Amino acid sequence: MIMSATKKTSVVSGLYKLPINQRREIVKEFANLTADEAQSFATPLDLTTADRMIENVLSTFELPLGIAVNFLINGKDYMIPMATEESSVVAAASNAAKIARMKGGFTTSCTAPLMIGQIQLLHISDVVSAAQEILRHKQQLLALANAQDKILISLGGGARDLEVRILPSPHGDMLVTHLIVDVRDAMGANAVNTMCEALAPMLEEITQGKVRLKILSNLADKRLVKATAVFDKEKMGGEHVVDAFLESYTLASLDPYRAATHNKGIMNGIDAVIIATGNDFRAIEAGAHAYAARDGTYTSLTAYHKDKDGNLVGEIELPLAVGVVGGAANMHPKAKLCRRILGITTAQELAEVVASLGLAQNFAAVFALSTVGIQKGHMSLHAKNIAVMAGAQGDDIDTLADHLVRDGRVKLDYAKELYERLKKKKPT
Ligand code: MEV
Repeated sequence: MIMSATKKTSVVSGLYKLPINQRREIVKEFANLTADEAQSFATPLDLTTADRMIENVLSTFELPLGIAVNFLINGKDYMIPMATEESSVVAAASNAAKIARMKGGFTTSCTAPLMIGQIQLLHISDVVSAAQEILRHKQQLLALANAQDKILISLGGGARDLEVRILPSPHGDMLVTHLIVDVRDAMGANAVNTMCEALAPMLEEITQGKVRLKILSNLADKRLVKATAVFDKEKMGGEHVVDAFLESYTLASLDPYRAATHNKGIMNGIDAVIIATGNDFRAIEAGAHAYAARDGTYTSLTAYHKDKDGNLVGEIELPLAVGVVGGAANMHPKAKLCRRILGITTAQELAEVVASLGLAQNFAAVFALSTVGIQKGHMSLHAKNIAVMAGAQGDDIDTLADHLVRDGRVKLDYAKELYERLKKKKPT
């Protein structure tokens, strides 16, 4: 049964029971898509575009694209497109968002979109004096960097600062210059790499050293996003469930073995929307995990505590170098469609949605693990998929899936047989 109607809400229940065309209609209406835009749902990436994106193209590679519903972020409703091969992920995120919205949804904040470019200098006899010289020439260096990208400057971005680090190494002391660039709505790699390459000759002249690497850092720790949400204790099953959740979470906060799995669950959501919007999921993964180890020990990207009423408060903080201009985001028609569904126009808004989804995904996983375990949820979703494959439609999907789980036989041949029997029993 669909609850979305005149008011623009992302709350939809029973979406999975509808045929794909009806789901598309609901999303089309929610996002005010034109008929042409909605047509992209049915249009695969064409080979000519693919051939322009990478080398030696043979074909394209498909992933399921689902929609997570119920998200309320900073008072605005979002439906979040997710490209993933993993079952339960979309349903879990939607369910977590439903619980979060009972207490106002997600609240987010983020820093300016500052990326770091690194320029490595070697073979310098006095690194301390060389570092001082670099800083003395800061304004000239920043001006040279800014001369590389007039468009970025016209959009209000540009090189903002320089920092210098000295790193002892087997090759002698290295000077690593960090160029800090406000990349506005881009992911930033192109702009930053161009600037770093342009600064290299001047840095060599200033320091009499030799530049080796000049490249963006994926540890984008000046481009941080935070999202928080309160999860209602009653909806979770009572305060004892909140306590069980906190016990589970604590292991991730203490132990890298658990933290890796805990953070993987976060990335289940984050990667899915990153891929759907044509962003670089390797960059996001690298940044997230490096940030999780920033204090020397790998730990959880989320933190949880109980509020004074016993509800669960969750928070996530991570670097998110996402763009809404440039790269695959502009070439891939489905990435464009997904951005339209999200209704976002800035990289910061996209980052805030991504962080909220990461928190939702993590809450859903740890909630399931602290209570029923994840297999039960997986099994019931799997059973629904099998029921659909067996031909069930509408309410029959749930009925058949329940039978399959109850009988402990979630198999297609059994589902077909059972569905035939159920149909015969139904009054006509
Ligand atoms: C599985 O893809 C993700 C989980 O392992 C995450 C977690 O353990 O928190 C369920």
